[in-house]
Amino acid sequence: MTDRAAAYVRQLLAAHDYFRTGLADLRRVIAAPPEKTEEAELRSWASDLRIQCLYFCNGLHMHHTLEDQRMFPAVLVEDPELGPIVERLEADHRKVAEIIDAIESRLGELSSDPSGVREELNRMADALLEHLAYEEEQLTPVLARMTGPI
Ligand SMILES: [Fe+2]
Ligand SMILES: [Fe+2]
Repeated sequence: MTDRAAAYVRQLLAAHDYFRTGLADLRRVIAAPPEKTEEAELRSWASDLRIQCLYFCNGLHMHHTLEDQRMFPAVLVEDPELGPIVERLEADHRKVAEIIDAIESRLGELSSDPSGVREELNRMADALLEHLAYEEEQLTPVLARMTGPI
């Protein structure tokens, strides 16, 4: 494996671990909102969580955009038979993008009723964790033998 190929594999796995940890953190925080009677505390909790959600969603959107625009075309050059796998990964990205939009559109509800965002984060976990595992399983071998740049 070339140094560059090793770096591609390392970067993919590191990025995925970052998103797994970020999603787990969000789900842990949203599972334990402060009591409604502690209004100032609830507002501060909602405001922090809103920023954390936006940061996570923006990062994930950027990661998937880079994969769609750079990594997938490069792996298809390396192995054109990966077409159906890349199509499935692209469909996963569209699904995740739809959940990102749903999360972002409900962030204003956090201080009154966080259950909607919580449900969307659960949906995100179902879609994203499976996607990350499938992408690693399918693309790590081809990334490891890449000779050209992404
Ligand atoms: Fe992906
Ligand atoms: Fe990825």
